[in-house]
Amino acid sequence: MKNEAVSVLADVELPLAVPPPHLVRPSLPEREKAALKERIKKALREKDAVLMAHYYTDGDVQDLAEETGGCVADSLEMARFGARHPARTLVVAGVRFMGETSKILNIEKRVLMPDMQATCSLDEMCPALLFSGFCDRHPDRRVVVYANTSAEVKARADWVVTSGIALPLVQHLADQGEKILWGPDRHLGTYVQHLTGADMLIWPGFCVVHNEFRAGALETLRRLHPQAAVLVHPESPQGVVAQADVVGSTTALIEAVHTLPNPEFIVATDNGIFNKMRKLAPGKILLEAPSGGDTADCESCAHCAWMGMNTLEKLAAVLESGGGEILVDKELAGRARVPIQRMLDFAATLKKG
Ligand code: 13P
Ligand code: SF4
Repeated sequence: MKNEAVSVLADVELPLAVPPPHLVRPSLPEREKAALKERIKKALREKDAVLMAHYYTDGDVQDLAEETGGCVADSLEMARFGARHPARTLVVAGVRFMGETSKILNIEKRVLMPDMQATCSLDEMCPALLFSGFCDRHPDRRVVVYANTSAEVKARADWVVTSGIALPLVQHLADQGEKILWGPDRHLGTYVQHLTGADMLIWPGFCVVHNEFRAGALETLRRLHPQAAVLVHPESPQGVVAQADVVGSTTALIEAVHTLPNPEFIVATDNGIFNKMRKLAPGKILLEAPSGGDTADCESCAHCAWMGMNTLEKLAAVLESGGGEILVDKELAGRARVPIQRMLDFAATLKKG
């Protein structure tokens, strides 16, 4: 770890971000589920649409995306896939910022989402007006925002980053002597600051799912499973990140299960990711990292209730009714695209190097 002295948590009052209750839905009888999937497949063909699902969505939704020639991916890859695919309509099973990013990068396409209420606590805890005013008060800092933000917040930023590229990008800015205003995830910001030594003013938002992983209970679980590698998404608290064998984006964690020799893995991220991990490494044992406690903001589980809103029924409904369209003002999308494109260009230079 490098310099820890130049990170400050911004003193702002965060709006509440309360996830919906976790609904325990009766599972559909197999015949009904198959019929529903057929309806969706037919509608995708008729509407010239492709389905892109995030790793945290329901396994049936992920499987359907793959069966129909769509993709299951992280948020950035979903948007990239949409740009490459010839379909006129992109159906984004994920949360709102993912639909918005897809629209920003594919402004001429129609972008649909199964449930427009599916949001993200990081996005909710970083309202554009409050954030923009804060940026105005710190004009000497480069504004770097995580992808889990609204189009308005992205438009106010100099750079957008995903968890996969945050470290090299902040390192690059720090090497140039830039001071950084980081938002909105405090844990990812702190992790990046510790490894780069960058001078960072950090917005104090958090993910209500990852914030619940518990360092003490993780230590106990590790003692019980000494052969397990610990995989942690950097939206988790510092005490959890400190115990990780691998810290990384959803894509990096999936890759680790596939490539590391360990027979067991303790995974500190949304358990929707297990669907893909099981497929790529069927022989490995996967354990959820312990979460929750007396102060749980979420209902003590490793699953994002907003991601859970993407059901097969809603997918069929938006495709058949044409509702659920994501709209982003063209001028705003143009401004939000600039820092996203900077990130993509920076990522391309890393691949070359
Ligand atoms: P990715 O950018 O890896 O898709 O993660 C998004 C997210 O919401 C993590 O909680
Ligand atoms: Fe947002 Fe957390 Fe849900 Fe990811 S898991 S979409 S960061 S609330």
